[in-house]
Amino acid sequence: MEVLMGFAAEVRELTRADHRAAQHVTYFDALLSGRLDRAGYAALLEQLHLVYQALEEAAGTMRDHPVAGRFVVDELQRLPRIAADLEFLNGPDWASRIVPTPATRRYQERLGDIAFSWPAGFVAHHYTRYLGDLSGGQVMARALRRTFGFDSAGVEFFTFPGLDPRAFKEHYRSLLDTVPWDEAERRRFLDEVSRAYRLNTDLLDELGQVVAQERAA
Ligand code: HEM
Repeated sequence: MEVLMGFAAEVRELTRADHRAAQHVTYFDALLSGRLDRAGYAALLEQLHLVYQALEEAAGTMRDHPVAGRFVVDELQRLPRIAADLEFLNGPDWASRIVPTPATRRYQERLGDIAFSWPAGFVAHHYTRYLGDLSGGQVMARALRRTFGFDSAGVEFFTFPGLDPRAFKEHYRSLLDTVPWDEAERRRFLDEVSRAYRLNTDLLDELGQVVAQERAA
């Protein structure tokens, strides 16, 4: 008997390989095994600050959209938390030190091109980042606490006060299951999720190289 899958399960299933590629980058190997130094970790937060600047600005635009707006929740906002972590790690002039890598520039460009004007495209990027932060992000936070002895300062990015990750992910999946998109729009959404994963993988690959070069220098 064929078991019908909800859209959320379908998304997860059809992007499993993309997730695997994002998860198994050298950068995370180093992070999870305690071989990343503080500067290497701060380098990730710097690039993510630029990504979330674009994504959360788009969220402001999409907030009132009847479908995309359902996904926009204040508790998800990461930008102030990344800023606090960077100030803790890099000091008060943290913002002036941020330089986008080529992969981050491509990520920013894609968000600029679609996330303000195409609701399903915005949701694709929203899903890829925030569900990732609520899932693998929690594993990363544990590793970072272990490696650097952080309590809350330094890993604010991974904490979601007022939000139960497990329950929220369930809620998020039920939102995906009920989006009123036709088949063609669902395909486009899936393609955009794959693209979002690739943009993240490229960003992490590039960061892995920079971190390795700095260590060799
Ligand atoms: C060390 C790296 C990573 C680990 C250990 C990890 C681990 C996980 C785990 C265990 C889940 C399943 C959680 C659940 O079903 O409740 C998950 C889901 C997810 N992860 Fe990752 N992940 C990593 C990296 C990433 C990256 C880089 C991204 C993209 C930016 C990402 C995006 C996602 C998304 C979107 C989901 C939700 C899938 C769904 O249920 O629809 N992950 N991750």
